[in-house]
Amino acid sequence: MLKTKSLQGRCAEPRTAHHAPGTDLYQRQRGFFAQVYESGSPTPWPSTEPTPAVGRLAHLMKRHKGGGRVLDLGCGEGRHTLLFAKAGLFTVGLDYLTAPLKTVAQRARAKRLTPRIRLLLGDALMPPLRPGSFDALVDSGVFHHLKKADWPIYFDHVLSLVKPGGYFHLTVFSTRFKHYPGERRTRNWYVHRHHYDRFFVKRDFTEIFSRWCEILEIEEEREGLNGFFHVLMRTRPANRRRVSQSRPC
Ligand SMILES: C[S@@+](CC[C@H](N)C(=O)[O-])C[C@H]1O[C@@H](n2cnc3c(N)ncnc32)[C@H](O)[C@@H]1O
Repeated sequence: MLKTKSLQGRCAEPRTAHHAPGTDLYQRQRGFFAQVYESGSPTPWPSTEPTPAVGRLAHLMKRHKGGGRVLDLGCGEGRHTLLFAKAGLFTVGLDYLTAPLKTVAQRARAKRLTPRIRLLLGDALMPPLRPGSFDALVDSGVFHHLKKADWPIYFDHVLSLVKPGGYFHLTVFSTRFKHYPGERRTRNWYVHRHHYDRFFVKRDFTEIFSRWCEILEIEEEREGLNGFFHVLMRTRPANRRRVSQSRPC
């Protein structure tokens, strides 16, 4: 069994892949998210207010495309699912927990957005969806909870859900993010309160994603303890993918 303490003491991150037997880090992470939603306290991330960066994407899609299908991966309580539906886009909100999906369903009913929303209970790394079925994918807060060993699954099974030329919006922690004032970290990943966090610097996005996507915009948000990157990308057609530039961590 992996223990939080011993993980923090190692210099290499856990190499077990998502579905490998014996890995319990993701189970504990799921338990962490479940506990957050079931506690009745406000979530550590905003529940209803979309990020300005995702707001701009919704506006862009509404203006230029006048429609389309969006996947909100790890949708939580649906702040972005509801935003896209309100902008007239058909939106799928996927999460592996029932509690936040029930909240999205209630909010959708109250705002009369139900016809434009489909909610799916499932794992982001095994999405029960067809490749190429979305014009945009929004990942606000899932990728930074994935171990590097699982990135290939994300590239193959998640990015492929977006049509070539479609949008991919990513919000992840930057290295400036702090869990508490004065926190010091010596590396770019951390297991904290039973969940895995990875922290990024600006050049990471080219190294990680440029094989699959063209990077359109990178915005850094920094306020108080918060530090995030909001990255807008466009997926490349399969025949225009670049040779991988990833380097070992
Ligand atoms: C940090 S919260 C962000 C929620 C929402 N995207 C937002 O920006 O408000 C991450 C969400 O992703 C969900 N999640 C994390 N890993 C997941 C996975 N492998 N499959 C499906 N959902 C996942 C969690 O249940 C949680 O609701």
